[in-house]
Formats: sequence, structure tokens, C-alpha cells
Amino acid sequence: MAETMTSAQVRESFIKFFESKGHLFVRSSPVVPHDDPTLMFTNAGMNQFKAIFLGDNPKGWKRVCNSQKCLRVSGKHNDLDVVGRDNYHHTFFEMLGNWSFGDYYKKEAIAWAWELLTEVWKLPKERLFATVYEDDDEAWQIWKDVSGLPDDRIMRFGAHSNFWEMGDTGPCGPCSEIHYDRGDIATQTETFKDPIKGVNGENDRYIEIWNNVFMQYERLSDGSLVPLKAKNVDTGMGFERICAILQGKTSNYDTDVFTPIISKVAELSGVPYNDGVEGTPHRVIADHLRALSFAIADGALPSNEGRGYVLRRILRRASRFARLLGQKEAFIYKLVQVLADTMGDAFPEIRERKDFVANVIKSEEESFIRTLDAGLERFETISADLKKGEKIPGDKVFLLYDTYGFPPDLTGILAEEKGLLIDEEGYEKCMQEQKDRARANMKKGINTMGSEGWTEYAVGSTQFVGYEADTAKVKVLRFREDKGILSIVLDTTPFYAEMGGQVGDKGLLQAEGLDIAIFDTIRVNDTIVHRGKVTKGEANKDTMSVEFVAKVDMRLRDDIRANHSATHLLQAALRQVLGSHVAQQGSRVEPGFLRFDFSHFQAMTKEEIQQVEDIVNDKIRATLPVNTDVMDVDAAKASGAMALFGEKYGEEVRVVKMGACGEEFSKELCGGLHVKNTGAIGMFKIVSEASVSSGVRRIEALTGRGAMALFRLEDSVLTVLRDKLRAKNDAIVERFELTLENARKLEKELADAKLEIAASAAAELLKNPEQVGEAKLYIRDTKAPDDGFKTLLDGIAQKIADDEVVVLGNVCGKAGSIAVLVGKALQKKGVKAGDLVKELAAYANGRGGGRPDRAQAGTREVEKVSGAIQHATEIVKTKLGV
Ligand code: ALA
Repeated sequence: MAETMTSAQVRESFIKFFESKGHLFVRSSPVVPHDDPTLMFTNAGMNQFKAIFLGDNPKGWKRVCNSQKCLRVSGKHNDLDVVGRDNYHHTFFEMLGNWSFGDYYKKEAIAWAWELLTEVWKLPKERLFATVYEDDDEAWQIWKDVSGLPDDRIMRFGAHSNFWEMGDTGPCGPCSEIHYDRGDIATQTETFKDPIKGVNGENDRYIEIWNNVFMQYERLSDGSLVPLKAKNVDTGMGFERICAILQGKTSNYDTDVFTPIISKVAELSGVPYNDGVEGTPHRVIADHLRALSFAIADGALPSNEGRGYVLRRILRRASRFARLLGQKEAFIYKLVQVLADTMGDAFPEIRERKDFVANVIKSEEESFIRTLDAGLERFETISADLKKGEKIPGDKVFLLYDTYGFPPDLTGILAEEKGLLIDEEGYEKCMQEQKDRARANMKKGINTMGSEGWTEYAVGSTQFVGYEADTAKVKVLRFREDKGILSIVLDTTPFYAEMGGQVGDKGLLQAEGLDIAIFDTIRVNDTIVHRGKVTKGEANKDTMSVEFVAKVDMRLRDDIRANHSATHLLQAALRQVLGSHVAQQGSRVEPGFLRFDFSHFQAMTKEEIQQVEDIVNDKIRATLPVNTDVMDVDAAKASGAMALFGEKYGEEVRVVKMGACGEEFSKELCGGLHVKNTGAIGMFKIVSEASVSSGVRRIEALTGRGAMALFRLEDSVLTVLRDKLRAKNDAIVERFELTLENARKLEKELADAKLEIAASAAAELLKNPEQVGEAKLYIRDTKAPDDGFKTLLDGIAQKIADDEVVVLGNVCGKAGSIAVLVGKALQKKGVKAGDLVKELAAYANGRGGGRPDRAQAGTREVEKVSGAIQHATEIVKTKLGV
């Protein structure tokens, strides 16, 4: 083996190797895919190249390589529950990959993999195994020729392990994996073919390190496979696994990728680490810390739904394990710094956003710790009803997991302490149901990718001309119709596709005799898809083949531009007023309003909001010029431009600057559309400021026409108030308060009057009691309306003497009620209103209960009410023993 390399050197040597083979290095895309509705988190290196495999390759790339941040916590590839229990699965991991887009194929891929492993990294050949898809004789022979491995160590496997698919639909193909034997060579011959202990047996010894996928098909939604236009290669090597091997470790957690974090866990908690089961909490925490931090740094936040919910569950699992280390206070957030130190060179975003990430994790942990105590209480109630040896029902185990974040293994431990078991099967069933629901929700996202149902005229990609133009002469590259909705890809388009929070353009596609109203423009991976409906003529293969004029709806676009530019001014103003910790966390730019989410830890004061509004409006009135530069992403960042979440691949970015050259008020990386001069924003008004999640605030605001519409609306409300209250502007509030006060006074008077009437009605009722032992019993039928009955009871409650029992049966339409009130002395003697009402209600098949002094029951069987209350005499007798 080569001299021991650090993890950073391993990453670097992989990339260098493939660069030497003509590959272009591209940056990892964010772990949160911002533009693929079929995917919750990036789960493989190839995700960002999905469109290229499907035939859209605008940059003409042939060979690329990278190290991709991946999360496997949902959907087809999910390892969450096993993490920490073994030493080689992770939620977050890096995938080293090399790709060929219609360029080299099996021969080179296999030869280079072998070369890197055995010649550069000098891994012992006798520890390496190759696998191929069962009928892939070609790959088998290449392996034989390239590696000279014995025949039985080039193994054939079926689709389960050797046919790789990204998801339920999408590019896929047979694959060839490389496995490494970490065990005792002396026992290799007898073990490597074993389905459990051998290669592909999911054991700690034979470990898969690299997958070479020969991408040649696309899986369609009906399950069928169609060949892709070109044959491609997609590879993925588990970075943490190869580091472990190259560093001579049996566990990924013993490599320098993890040891700084694990040591910190041990140091802060005072619980030493070992690689046995006692070390599970350390491993889980170290793993989950990485998943959470990268997801948050890339723009996801814990929440109640979708990917935010997945994050919340990861955090809760980590937090539970922190408690097992005796940590009762927030703990995980303290580890963000060491993660930033370990990984900040390779992934600068984690260093840049570490304070924000730590703050989000901390607040989320704190709120979970509060839930945790509630969960323990809930567990006590659930378990109180069970006898030793019984099982906690699956739906309850699921409830504890879903609502309180108790992983089932934890519930199992708590149950065991009480001599109980848990219904694992029932839990699994509930879990599966939830997964199905989540999957159904994901599928609702529009999946315009894939080649199903398209009519295609030409292969190619779209040229976007919308920065300069709002109309263009265009031709259709391909289109497809689904339930009357057209999806159209054009050769050229002025339509902006939804991205970076800015909604897609609407407008019109027009040709001779054919009008298509475009109601949305979306981006699917890198392809701009126009969604439209025919409003004149008919769309078919012939009519769609002609030249169209594409016209963006300019009124909407103007409003969108104004709102988008205003978000830039807003961000700069917020940083001025609140501080430089303010960073954009998300935004939505629509024609009618703008929304801006940013990091900040408390509500803004009224003064701060006004200050921000004033600054933005000053900059609007100052009519600042807006200019855009196109430059390399690193140069853009170096120039001090604000950037959002880890930019995707692409060498060039747009930097939008507002203000005179050299003294710009705002400078941001942004691909959106903007006004030419801030004056065009017109005006700016914040309409709300609120919390979205831990450490993130949200502002909603209006500009130009939208702000004007708001003023008009508010003015019309004021006009009505002025008229009705007969007051001038400054007197309105005073007059209104007076009116309110009057109304309150009248309400009180009315309530008092009602009570008085009820009291006299009560006095009327409380005459001629039946004497039962020492109790005076009143059994009465009434016919009061609902609220009248309550007032009547209030009246009686005020009057009732210590030795009185009042039983009322009330019928109001289809509702029957029985009410019981009991005086103090009798309550002490065991006559309790709550018990009495239950017994009486039973005679009318009703239900209810209440306190010892006052209780009520209801029934639908109104005809039985009158009879039921007559039983009060005998019940009171029994209770008093007379
Ligand atoms: N895309 C392949 C994988 O994730 C390489 O395993």
C-alpha cells in the first residue's frame, strides 16, 4: 500500500488521477437539490448530471469528476436507521465520481478504476473483487483482461446489487462494483462466496468501495426501460470507506474524517469512545452532525414537512443519543466548529455558515429537549395501562417516534425497564404507511424529465435570451401533452424559468392559427420547460413544427423585476440595521409580493422595521443604476458579492450590482431578472415580519403597483371608518376606542341582566324540594335553548345551598341534556355531581361527567331524558345510605 494518506490527500489524488485522464473537475452540487421535484436530497454524484444523461448537455461536457456531498435518508436510498450500528454506513457521505457523457465506456472505466486502486493507491490485488451484472459478459471479459483476477473473483450478481437506479424513474443501467476484503486472508477462500459472510453480504469484512454504472437506459413511470441516446459512465466511490482502507482502519469512524469529531464528543461528554456498542452514540452523533450541518448550510431547515421534517428527525435521533451520554442540554451544536475545521477546506460553505448552522441546531435541540420531557410523560401514560410482558402497540411506538422523536430502539429500552415489549411489526406497518404517503406527496411534484410521451423535432438545448429581450422568434425542440397541459422545450426563449425563488414567466406562444397561453415556466434540472394551454387552434406534430413568436407578459414581469431588485436592497438594508449575521435563507419573488427569509434570532422591533423601510425607499428615490457582470464564481465571491447556498456547477455566474461603480449599495450573485434602475421599484412597504423556524425570520413586502394597491385598500377602509365614526384621521382611533368601550359596557350589562333573569328562574325552580334523608332534591324538566340552559345553571350555581341537589333534564330540539348541581355539604358525604350525572345519563344512553359540584351529560334520545332524571331519588338515597 502507498504511504498513509490523509483524507484530504485521498480526495485530491482521486481528482488528480481523473484530471490526468482528461476529466474536468466540477464542484459538488448542494446536498439540497433546489430544482428536482423528484428528489428530496442529493443521493448520488450523478444527480446534478441527470439532464445530461437524458440528452441535454448545453456545455458539451464529455468527461467530468468530482466529490459530491450526498445524503441517504429518504426515498430509494435510505440508510438512516442503520447508522451508528455498523462502521461503514452513513447518512451524509462524500461520493467520489468520474463520468463519461457519451464518451468512454466500460473498457476505460474498468481499466482506470483498476489502475487507480492497484497502481496509484497500491491496494493489494488479492483483497479486491469485481462484480458484474449477471448477463454482462462484456464487462466480465474486460475485468478479466484488465485485472487478471481469477475467474471466480469476477462475480455475477442480479439486479438487486448490480443494476443501479437513481429513483423510481430516471437514468439507470447495469453496474460493476469493486469490493475489498478487510479480513484475514487465510479465511478468504472459504468465506468470499458466502451470501451472508461474503461479497455483497452486508458484513464488515467484504466492503463495497466503488460502483461503476454503465448508464444506458431510462426507467419510465410504467416500469419499462428505454435506451438512452448515448452510452454513459457514472461512478461512485464511498470516500469515507476508501479512506478507512487506505489508512488501514477497520472502521470509517477511525479515520481522520471522523476522529476529530468523535474525540470532541468524548471530551465534551466525558464518555470515552470505543468501537463497540458503547460507542454507538458517538458514531450516531458524529454522522448526524455532518448530515445536519451540510443540509442546513445548503439551505434546508428543520420543519414539520418534507425535507425539513427529515432533518428534524435526524436531529432528534442525534439528540436522543446525546442524552444517552448524559447530556440534558443542547449538545450537538457545540460540534459544528470542529466539523468546520475538518471539512472547511474541501467545502468552504460549512466554514462560511458555521455560526448560522450552530444556531439553528441549538434552537432546534432546545425545543426538542422540551418535547422530550413531554414524550417521556406520554410514554408513562401509554405504559401505565399495560401489564408486565404486554406489548406497547405499534401505533403508539410510532406516535412516540413521529411526534416526540423517540426512535423505536429507545422506546424498546424504556419498555424493557418496565418489563414491557414493543410491537415492532405494528410499528413497521405505520412507518410504511407514512413512507407511502410521503412518496405519494413527492410524486405530486411535476416530473417533466424523462423521455416519455415527447414529440421531438430536434436535439439541443435552449438559449435563454430573457435578460435582454421579452419577445423572440422561436422553434419547438420537443413537446408533450398530458391532460390538456402542454410541456414545451424551445430552442430559444425569453421566458424565465422558476429559480432562486423567482417565479416563472407567463405569456403567449403564437403561430399562424395557434395560440398557446403559457401559465408557468419551470426548470427541470437545466432544461427550461414552458407549461401551457392551447387557447386557439390545435397543437399537434404538424402545427407545432413552425416558427412561433414567444411573448412574455410584460406587466407581470415588470412587477417581478421590481420585487426581485427590492429583495436585494432589503438584504443590504437588513445587514445595515441588524448586523452582518443577516444572510438570505430563502426567498419568493412573485408579481404581487416578495418574501425574504433571513437569519436573525429575535423579532424585529417596530423601529428596526421602519429603519429598513426608510433605507430601501431612500435607495429607490436615489435611482441607483443596476448593472450585471458575468464572471467566474470564485472571482465573484472574492469581489465581496453575497452568495446564496453552494452554487451549482457552471463556470460563470451573474453578479447584480446596485449603485455607482465602486460604491455599490448591494452586490449579489443572482441569476434573476432585475430593474435597470432602482427608481423603477417605485416604493417599498413591509407588510409582515415573523418567525419561520429556529433562527430564521421572514419578511413579506410589497413594491410599486402592489404597494399602491395596499395603500388604496387601506385608504378605503379608513374612509369607511371616517364616515361611520364621523371622525377625522387623527380622531379615528380615539373614537373607535370609545365605541369599543361602550360596546363592552353594554355586553356586560346584558350578561348581568341575563344572569338576573336566570337567578329568578332558578329561584322559581328551587321551590318545594323532595326531602331525601338530609338532602333537599329538586328534579325538574326544562326546555331552555342551549345558551339559556347554561345561564340557568349559572343562576342555580349561585343560589344552591349546602344541602341541596338539583337535577335538570333539558330538551332543546334534538339535543337532550342532563345537569346535576350538588351543594358543598352533600359533596363531602359522597354525593358527587359527576358520578350522579353519569349514572343518570346511562338511563338515556347518554354520556358526560364533570366536577363534584357541577356536571353535565348529553344524549340524542330526548324522549328518555325526563324518565332518566327520575332515578335521581333512588341514587341519592343509596349514596346517603337512607
Ligand atoms: N450512481 C452510482 C451510485 O450511487 C454510482 O452508486
